[in-house]
Amino acid sequence: DKGNHRHFMEKEIYEQPEVISHALSHYVDFASHRVHPGVSAIDFGKVSGLAISACGTAYLAGLIGKYWFERYARLPVEIDVASEFRYREMPLSPSQAALFISQSGETADTLASLRYCRDNGLKIGAVVNVRESTIARESDAVFPIMAGPEIGVASTKAFTCQLAVLASLAIGAGVARGTISAKDEKELVHHLVEMPRIMAQVLNIIQPQMESLSREISKYKDVLYLGRGTSFPLAMEGALKLKEISYIHAEGYAAGELKHGPIALIDENMPVIVIAPHDRFFDKTVSNMQEVAARGGRIIFITDAAGAAASTLPTMATIILPVVDEIIAPIIFSLPIQLLAYHTAVFMGTDVDQPRNLAKSVTVE
Ligand code: M6R
Repeated sequence: DKGNHRHFMEKEIYEQPEVISHALSHYVDFASHRVHPGVSAIDFGKVSGLAISACGTAYLAGLIGKYWFERYARLPVEIDVASEFRYREMPLSPSQAALFISQSGETADTLASLRYCRDNGLKIGAVVNVRESTIARESDAVFPIMAGPEIGVASTKAFTCQLAVLASLAIGAGVARGTISAKDEKELVHHLVEMPRIMAQVLNIIQPQMESLSREISKYKDVLYLGRGTSFPLAMEGALKLKEISYIHAEGYAAGELKHGPIALIDENMPVIVIAPHDRFFDKTVSNMQEVAARGGRIIFITDAAGAAASTLPTMATIILPVVDEIIAPIIFSLPIQLLAYHTAVFMGTDVDQPRNLAKSVTVE
């Protein structure tokens, strides 16, 4: 049931504050701001490293998770798309743990990667939405994302719930490894707890602007997304979302890679969407944005209030989000990206919930 929404995708975008809050309550304590002991179903304190494997949007959630596990838990992370992971014959040790991220829990390549890790003696954790799935069944520890059924082929609420769970696990791992203090834990969890309210507020505020920007975007054939740090996987997620439902060609790049190739493409026919909260990477990203502007590129700047105040470059549009802590920024910044893809597809008249050639669950290789 779509309720009063036109598409499941729209419904699922707007459900996010509620489902994330539900998911978080499973992992963190809203009163004490501590991580629940359940997150140590895998003993992150003892493992020598983490291998992560997933496909599509779930893989991009895993890439953001890598930044968190490395930063907060000082835990080395090896990550790859499952279709490569399963065949790379990478050396793994039983002292490592492995995490598989999958909404459906049935993705063939992800399942094959899981079995490869199990054969190598690794402890297996599954970050899944469908708890009765094969991937959940074959894992030692299941970390449900509790997003509720996701019907739209384009993953939205599953992505942000995966991120909420990975953030909680990374904080829990940091506590277990002694790399973050009890004070840091409380602060980080406090930001997670605040997040659903901020998400609801952001969805309300940006909706009209994203809708009118989508009209513009629908006139183009190519779009480039740029970001640094956790905004880099988010740039790839933005591009994936746009291409899969609107069929506009889009690429996501690490902003620092711009001058190593894609800069040759910059002209007035390819809008460049720059995802840049005012974080420790901001100035670097703005200098890449400057390179785009100098070549006549059209910029859509997705930033926060501090970022908007700090840059004077002309843009085609500037989307201003509230200033939030780095740990929740990727989740908050997912919202404009989802709405942009959604409204562009609606505007172009494509089948938003069932895009051509795609299946919700890819159970063949
Ligand atoms: O069910 P899974 O999470 O394992 O699915 C993985 C990908 O097929 C999926 O995320 C796909 O990329 C989505 N259609 C993206 O929106």
